[in-house]
Amino acid sequence: MEGKNITIIGCGNLGQAILKGLIKSAKNVNLVVTKRDTSAIKHFEKEGVRILDDNIQAIENANLILLALKPYNVLEVLKDLAPHLNSKKQVIVSLATGVMISDLKDTAQCNIPIYRAMPNTAADVGASMTCIAANNNIHDALIEECFNTIGSTIRIDETLMDAATVLGACGVAFVLRFMRGMVQGGVQIGFDSKTASAIVNQTVKGAAELLISGGQHPEFEIDKVTTPKGCTISGLNEMEHNGFSSALIKGIVSSFNAIDS
Ligand SMILES: NC(=O)c1ccc[n+]([C@@H]2O[C@H](COP(=O)([O-])OP(=O)(O)OC[C@H]3O[C@@H](n4cnc5c(N)ncnc54)[C@H](OP(=O)(O)O)[C@@H]3O)[C@@H](O)[C@H]2O)c1
Repeated sequence: MEGKNITIIGCGNLGQAILKGLIKSAKNVNLVVTKRDTSAIKHFEKEGVRILDDNIQAIENANLILLALKPYNVLEVLKDLAPHLNSKKQVIVSLATGVMISDLKDTAQCNIPIYRAMPNTAADVGASMTCIAANNNIHDALIEECFNTIGSTIRIDETLMDAATVLGACGVAFVLRFMRGMVQGGVQIGFDSKTASAIVNQTVKGAAELLISGGQHPEFEIDKVTTPKGCTISGLNEMEHNGFSSALIKGIVSSFNAIDS
């Protein structure tokens, strides 16, 4: 990625999370970002970032163009950019939920390589899971390097992009709601909420680390903590009698069905 010019069009929540990751981890890249109202991102200037409200000017020398816009105006903005794109030197990555590569390609009106990426808000702390889809593999290394600055990446088929939105992006909220329940339980059994939160946060982080480093199915690690007739299995079975796994699965399917409805 060294020496590349990266432009983020629409530097809002997600755009800024990616920008922070790139500032922290990418060496020798030139960063240009846009927003119509640039007042909230002016402070990035002191990090060497060029801030513009003119999208066309912003892509002039860009190698990598990230479209961090909302789904409702990504095609409109791309249409304005279309006559100024250089399909031989540039690649586009759209972060917009539900906007297909075929629609982006039709709007770009040239053969520019187009990727889609679905990160999550953990990008803010360099811990996003970013699902990447494309109908080519010309720039895989560059795109993966870019998103590895804000966490981990995985390549998926574009047909799974909505599922990636639910499991990866909405998934942050699902896990946080589960954690809120754990904290509430912790308070009922005697902890103040600050202490309960500290215990829950580190326990969830540790459980995730066990799976990430061990590469095992969750049930493999669960088996290690369930002593016969013990308190863990008693709690787990009570949760399952009350529909714990079923509620999660139904929630995930409901989120998936709500996309585009
Ligand atoms: N947040 C997430 O967890 C998440 C995860 C995965 C994917 N996504 C996707 O990422 C995209 C961005 O989400 P977000 O949460 O970052 O939204 P956001 O905070 O609203 O960011 C979008 C930004 O685009 C700017 N913008 C709008 N029109 C523009 C234009 N014509 N030219 C330049 N900038 C323009 C807006 O600023 P101005 O109004 O000042 O122009 C705004 O700051 C969405 O498509 C979403 O589906 C989000």
